[in-house]
Amino acid sequence: MSREISRRTFIKGAAAAGVVLAAGSYFTWNGRNIPEKVQRGDVTYDVLIIGSGGAGMRAALAAAEDKNLKVAVMTKLIPTRSASTMAQGGMNGVTGVTDPNDSVESHTFDTIKGGDYLCDQDAVEYFAERAGANIYEMDYMGYPYNRQADGHFHQRKMGGHSHARASYFEDRAGHAMVHTLFEQCLAHDIDFISECQMLEISMSGEKEDQLNGVVAIDMRTGNLLGIPAKSIIIATGGYGRAYWIRTSNPYSSTGDGIVAGMNIGIPFKDPEMVQFHPTGLSANGVLLSESSRSEGALLINKNGERFMSKYAPEKMELATRDIVARAIATEIEQGRGVGEGIHAGVYLDFTKIPPERVHERLGQVFDLSRRFAGVDITKEPVPISPTCHYSMGGLEMADFHTGASRVPGVYVAGECSCVSVHGANRLGANSLSEVLVFGHTAGDGAADYARANSYAGSQDKLTQDCQKWKDRFDEVTNRPEGCGKTVPEIRDAMVNTMWFKAGVFREENQLNQATQELRALEEEYAHCYVGDPSHVYNTAFEQYVELGNLLQISHAIVQGALARKESRGGHTRRDFPKRDDKNFLKHTLIFKDKKTGEYRTEYKDVVITKYQPKERKY
Ligand code: FUM
Repeated sequence: MSREISRRTFIKGAAAAGVVLAAGSYFTWNGRNIPEKVQRGDVTYDVLIIGSGGAGMRAALAAAEDKNLKVAVMTKLIPTRSASTMAQGGMNGVTGVTDPNDSVESHTFDTIKGGDYLCDQDAVEYFAERAGANIYEMDYMGYPYNRQADGHFHQRKMGGHSHARASYFEDRAGHAMVHTLFEQCLAHDIDFISECQMLEISMSGEKEDQLNGVVAIDMRTGNLLGIPAKSIIIATGGYGRAYWIRTSNPYSSTGDGIVAGMNIGIPFKDPEMVQFHPTGLSANGVLLSESSRSEGALLINKNGERFMSKYAPEKMELATRDIVARAIATEIEQGRGVGEGIHAGVYLDFTKIPPERVHERLGQVFDLSRRFAGVDITKEPVPISPTCHYSMGGLEMADFHTGASRVPGVYVAGECSCVSVHGANRLGANSLSEVLVFGHTAGDGAADYARANSYAGSQDKLTQDCQKWKDRFDEVTNRPEGCGKTVPEIRDAMVNTMWFKAGVFREENQLNQATQELRALEEEYAHCYVGDPSHVYNTAFEQYVELGNLLQISHAIVQGALARKESRGGHTRRDFPKRDDKNFLKHTLIFKDKKTGEYRTEYKDVVITKYQPKERKY
């Protein structure tokens, strides 16, 4: 055992040192965040990936298998800071290592039932068949899994699963994944375009359906860059910041890629399906992993009752996230919570778990609770409440065998996409495996497209689009003080609207009010005060752009929620408390009109293979 620990410790240390050295040398060697050829404008990428999370980097590795292709990953952060690093509990995949009775069929069914039957079942089958292989693949890449005494990785059971199938590194599964993939990307000489925010996907042609490339701003200099590409993969993550401090997402999760995709005609699928994770710190929404409950942490109300017995008598704390989040919100509403307003919560109690196990498997949860709530979880319970965690909806992936959207040359992957594997409620640890499976698929799909097509975009149009953004930068950043509300003022109002009127519980009149409030905020946004005309790291402009995206995302969430007159998964309508398969066994598709910006809603049937919808019981 001690040999095992020292080997693991060695791998962890070596991996960390390797990444630090590789990243350090990469950035110092180049001395810049963006390759010179991109700044000079003399490279056309075959595959340009926007977003450096798990999906983006896995896609890059797949595309870069063909050494003849020019592949780059662009990110508004630095590559290892993506939202994927914040996924904690693990990545699912059937391997039979910890539980030999597990099966692909069982993973498929758990996912479909967990998603409250809004999943496209053919896509889930494709996903579950491939997820196990990814666990081994990450092992070969050097992922520092927590291991059993015999050296095999260990798997834990997350909420809504019938078997232990989540492999993990402590409670930092996503963090380790991103670093492992980044290391591989460096080894494969993939270009990184860092601290560079995408502003628009540039299109040309009579029908505006020919891809030119991407318009982006170099955060370090404020220069506008037009980057030509034959194919792009949008992998920009979710939009939890629509709920601002009631989210587990980083500040960067602002739905940029979804809005850019909608602007070129890709529908936003199932936007109303927002996941509220049961256990965010009441103090600030930061995630305390579901693996806490998998390791034995209990949910307790202010009277000391283990209340999940009322809501999910069989699975208790390990029921699906939608059910546990609603249970917690109900306890708070009915006066059995602790704390006030947006910070009200119940307790997550770790004190029955041996402290050494907490430190071995839940080190980050321990650390986050201590830093942000001042609680030592090995000694006392910590207040938690639901926090916006994940978007099941996203840009429609039109073909899950290739990752293609309905716009030629444009592919989607990861949380910003909707495959639809997660339906109305994602199961814990299915997102990291989804980004690996469909990141790989999209990388292959985009590479095939790039091989089969030559660049037919218009560089002139790309330059015009850059100029348009340069003019906009100058106009908005030079507005005089007092011209309107500030970006933070509008953002804070948006968040109140979203949390209280389109949060865990929803109903018609509140959603109608939310629509009106968002419209008013959009008008204020049109002449808001930005305040900083400088070109170097102009985060005021960055946040202005992000707020514009979040307002559009919020609008789509509310529109989808208003039209879906039923309760399903994470979407709970008090006025329509039952699931309605007769009328709503279908996906919402929201299209944005390219000229007017108005939203139009269509519906598309859910794909059912062999799992007929049934009432869910946990
Ligand atoms: O709770 C968690 O560890 C989150 C994992 C996930 O969203 O998959």
